Amino acid sequence: MARHEFTRPPLGDFHTSPFYGRDVISADDFSKPEVIQISDLATQIEMIQRNGGRSTILAGKIANVIFYEASTRTSGSFQAAMLLLGGDVITYPDPKKFSSAAKGENLEDTARTLDGQGHVTILRHVDIGSAAKAARAARNPVVNGGDGAGEHPTQALLDLHTILRTHGEVDGLTVTMMGDLKFGRTIHSLAKMLTMFEDITLNFVSAEGLDMPEGIRDDLRTKGLGNQYATRSLADVLPTTDVLYVTRTQNERFQEEDPEFAEMIRLSIPLYQVTPEVMEGAKTTMTLMHPFPRNEEIAPTVDDDPRAVYFDQADYGVDVREALLALILGRAV
Ligand code: NCD
Repeated sequence: MARHEFTRPPLGDFHTSPFYGRDVISADDFSKPEVIQISDLATQIEMIQRNGGRSTILAGKIANVIFYEASTRTSGSFQAAMLLLGGDVITYPDPKKFSSAAKGENLEDTARTLDGQGHVTILRHVDIGSAAKAARAARNPVVNGGDGAGEHPTQALLDLHTILRTHGEVDGLTVTMMGDLKFGRTIHSLAKMLTMFEDITLNFVSAEGLDMPEGIRDDLRTKGLGNQYATRSLADVLPTTDVLYVTRTQNERFQEEDPEFAEMIRLSIPLYQVTPEVMEGAKTTMTLMHPFPRNEEIAPTVDDDPRAVYFDQADYGVDVREALLALILGRAV
């Protein structure tokens, strides 16, 4: 993995960024200064574009956006990011059905083929480890847009950016993750990225059977995030929470295999739902985040609460992905 040479030689000073040509597979691929750099660059890009500024830093670059799982925000914001920076995109609608995967092609062969028809591959796939597998085969950089119940590193980047934009800092915060902590890949990556910061308290609130995997909790401890607390009740941790990060139940990962478990989880939804009444018990400075799509876990009546930042969070996704793609494909700005 690590760094790749492009199939076509870069032009001009396009390879001055230490990010140039890099894969993005896991939250572990970033150092803290890099996360801060991406966030700062995302803010700069947001300000420039808000004032009507345009960049063509990715002119002549093509992203292959191939998503084997459903997506609105991740796929759309990567495409918007490419287009806003002057690049182009090729999309593969429903690739399970309409790409060569339907003819039995393996992911490695697909990834190698995409090398020749673009400069970066943005991949979402149902299997854990699929992005790493594609990256091993490909020469172009591969960006993991979600690998099954594994990771979603670019979501973690935009989540951290949102925390930085709304709280000004990450150090010292109490972050509470609530929902499907077992299969939700966004919180796996975000938890990993939080280990870069000092004095974090991480609370896990979930129904039985959807707990944060022990392997991930151990990994977080090894990386210095020992201040972890798991509970079945949000009320235990809400008053001290600075960031409440809620996720939906990933029904598609277990519904077919275990309909009884799915029904049990469905019945527990009211216990883990954020409503205006629940928000009354939260700090006035708390922020409420959600990677979307949401189901019943946050009532729409909460949307007007100024602490609900999830639509801003989605918007920041475009800025952060512009910053990341500029660093991977363009020149350092
Ligand atoms: C998430 C995902 O796909 O992992 N969505 C996203 O990318 N913003 C969350 C989810 O599907 O629940």
